Amino acid sequence: MENKNFGDSIQLRTFSDEFGSLTVVEPDIDIGFEIKRMYYLHSLSPEALRGGHAHIKLTQLIVAISGSFTLILDRHHESKTIEAGDPTVGYFVPPMTWREIRNFSSGAVCMVLASERYDEDDYIREKQKYLKLCGE
Ligand code: TYD
Repeated sequence: MENKNFGDSIQLRTFSDEFGSLTVVEPDIDIGFEIKRMYYLHSLSPEALRGGHAHIKLTQLIVAISGSFTLILDRHHESKTIEAGDPTVGYFVPPMTWREIRNFSSGAVCMVLASERYDEDDYIREKQKYLKLCGE
């Protein structure tokens, strides 16, 4: 896969007929990193603020598999605000990207495909520490 920037959208292969759609992710073909973990945020309050951290090594793909939400990404002085609401589109989140997720619609489900297993030591949960590590 060509090099991807943070927040880049990846159109996932989707097979549709008159009864519905099926979207597939085969890691090496579709997203360019191995998936070691999948998790999803659901049953979300419209006031929920999720994320609010960065990861040192983790690469992720974030997909609004149901409903919609706003994904705010910051990386190296650049900020991107993404309105995610298409279950066939994933957003690429490389290491050292600060992310916040908010404005969840009713029934929203945020699926995350992750390159590594869960490791609390991989989190940077303080914005000041994150900015310092980015050399700002
Ligand atoms: P966290 O990553 O802080 O969620 P969010 O960024 O959406 O607010 O994780 C919330 C809780 O879930 C935290 O106690 C850690 C736990 N957790 C796991 O045990 N395994 C996982 O793979 C993830 C993503 C979280």
